Amino acid sequence: MTRRQIMRCFAIMRSIRIKFFVLTFSLLTIYLFLFYFFIEKWINRKNDSVGQSSVGLSLKHVVVHLDLKGSPPKLKYLESLLPVFKYYGVNGLLMEYEDMFPYEGDLVNISSRNCYDKNELKNFLNKSVNMGIEIIPLIQTFGHMEHALKLQEFRQLRESQKFPDSMCPSKAGSLQLVKEMLTQVINFHASIVPLNHIHIGCDEVYHINKCDKCRHRNLTNIKLFYKHLQTLETTIHELSPRTTVLIWDDMLRGKKGLQLSSMDNADVEPVYWDYKPRLTVSHTDLLNYHRKFKNIWIATAYKGADGRVATTPNFKNRFNNHIAWLNFILGYKFGGESKVYDFKGIILTGWSRYSHMDPLCELLPAAIPSLVINLILIQKMKKGVVINEAETLDSDDFFSKYIQAEFNMRFKCRNMIYVDDFNSAVCNYENSEIYNELKNYNFFYKNIKDKFINDNAILASINYYSQIGNINMNTAQIHLSWCKDNLKKLSNFEEKFRYLMSVYYEKDVVDEYVMSKTYDTTKKIWNVWTTLKQHLKTVKWDRRPIQNNITMILNYV
Ligand SMILES: *[C@@H]1O[C@H](CO)[C@@H](O)[C@H](O)[C@H]1NC(C)=O
Ligand SMILES: *[C@@H]1O[C@H](CO)[C@@H](O)[C@H](O)[C@H]1NC(C)=O
Ligand SMILES: *[C@@H]1O[C@H](CO)[C@@H](O)[C@H](O)[C@H]1NC(C)=O
Ligand SMILES: *[C@@H]1O[C@H](CO)[C@@H](O)[C@H](O)[C@H]1NC(C)=O
Ligand SMILES: [Zn+2]
Repeated sequence: MTRRQIMRCFAIMRSIRIKFFVLTFSLLTIYLFLFYFFIEKWINRKNDSVGQSSVGLSLKHVVVHLDLKGSPPKLKYLESLLPVFKYYGVNGLLMEYEDMFPYEGDLVNISSRNCYDKNELKNFLNKSVNMGIEIIPLIQTFGHMEHALKLQEFRQLRESQKFPDSMCPSKAGSLQLVKEMLTQVINFHASIVPLNHIHIGCDEVYHINKCDKCRHRNLTNIKLFYKHLQTLETTIHELSPRTTVLIWDDMLRGKKGLQLSSMDNADVEPVYWDYKPRLTVSHTDLLNYHRKFKNIWIATAYKGADGRVATTPNFKNRFNNHIAWLNFILGYKFGGESKVYDFKGIILTGWSRYSHMDPLCELLPAAIPSLVINLILIQKMKKGVVINEAETLDSDDFFSKYIQAEFNMRFKCRNMIYVDDFNSAVCNYENSEIYNELKNYNFFYKNIKDKFINDNAILASINYYSQIGNINMNTAQIHLSWCKDNLKKLSNFEEKFRYLMSVYYEKDVVDEYVMSKTYDTTKKIWNVWTTLKQHLKTVKWDRRPIQNNITMILNYV
């Protein structure tokens, strides 16, 4: 090829390249223009459909659940919380009395020996009502009835003799029992102010349709459940015609719900609960409830949903649970309806035990920050937020944009920037010691657990090696002082926490809580300590292999 030919070649290539470039560029421009045009239009339409770019929730009832079962906070303490509730927009308290209600007559044994005093309780309720905070009593009437069914006098009303949680709806005595409970509770509350709402539980009826009496009725579980529900509703409306009856919704969920439409009416309002940071709420269930019931409520959790023995709520999970629910119901429309559906209320649940026979989980005073952050969130969402943001902001962004300033001021936090920062934040609010002491406990408890699980053979198999007399004296010394240190830590915690907790709870609750946190661990370390001490007396060791006849005979039958 000559030099000229080469130059020509280059020239052609350049011109092709330029043409190609121009073509690509113009296509890209058209493409981008159309893309933005449609996106823009789509977003605008979305805003148009809401009417404006800011949207709020109506949520007429904002209710805080006080789970009193077996761990009543002092009424004086609850009273001190009323202005806080009020300030953050709470207008109802769901009082789950369980064994804390002062029952009388035939029911006297249902009440715990440390149940509330009638006059003091009345005083508290009256104060709450006077502040515009409605009281909604919660009385279990089907499942979760251990406080009654565990007793000798009511044991024949269990659905299954082994399990005192579920009541048989087919025995005459059952209706008599719940009717008497309801009568006492309704009369007590009506003596202060007419009762607007009552909650009758009806969740987690683990044993249903098992006994002969029930089986003989030839009903499906859902039909049996619903019949009992109707009986309860009728009973309540005979006692108190204007009272609205709430139930937890879980027994109506899923396929069972499809049969709802065929049931006769029960004038109740379901509370759809979901405490997870990511909801699994079913639109189908909601639609079924919407067709069947006048109103639907929702329930979140500010404590008592992060493990049966949790000490402090998982702050971020609790916040995400609320954000998820509020986003879910924001602008919610049922299929074929043009109107946004108004969920009647939200119940912020705060479980104190997973069930009557379970240990105590998070204490109320340790969960106030979690409650308050979510109350602020509800207030903001009621006022209105930009809908795009409600959908797209993650919880940290939402926190920093809408909540951080108010929260940090309320709890005097210096460095809380993200939602999950609360554990490490420097917050100096009143009553923060109980939270801080629990953080301290969590820290050293985790160290103890790790040591027992991960550390060397002495702790892991001390019972065996001490029997065959084969323990390293040097490490034994070290472990001995580790035991001593941790026994001391446990007893210091015990002493300090007893003192802190006694501000909020009576002695029985303090005893139970502190012991449930320290007893097992103390006993375990004490066992190691005494074994090691014994072993350190050893002065001579045998030749190997060590005579070893140790066997275990375990009988699992
Ligand atoms: C309450 O329990 C006590 C002790 O078990 C028993 O003697 C008493 O009869 C019970 N009271 C009622 C009303 O059942
Ligand atoms: C409730 O409080 C009001 C206002 O303080 C008082 O007049 C009323 O007697 C109280 N009622 C009861 C039952 O304590
Ligand atoms: C339930 O079914 C059995 C057998 O099919 C029948 O004998 C009984 O009468 C039925 N009971 C009711 C209450 O319908
Ligand atoms: C082990 O068994 C042997 C013989 O069976 C017996 O003599 C010895 O005492 C046993 N040792 C222990 C530690 O039990
Ligand atoms: Zn039965």
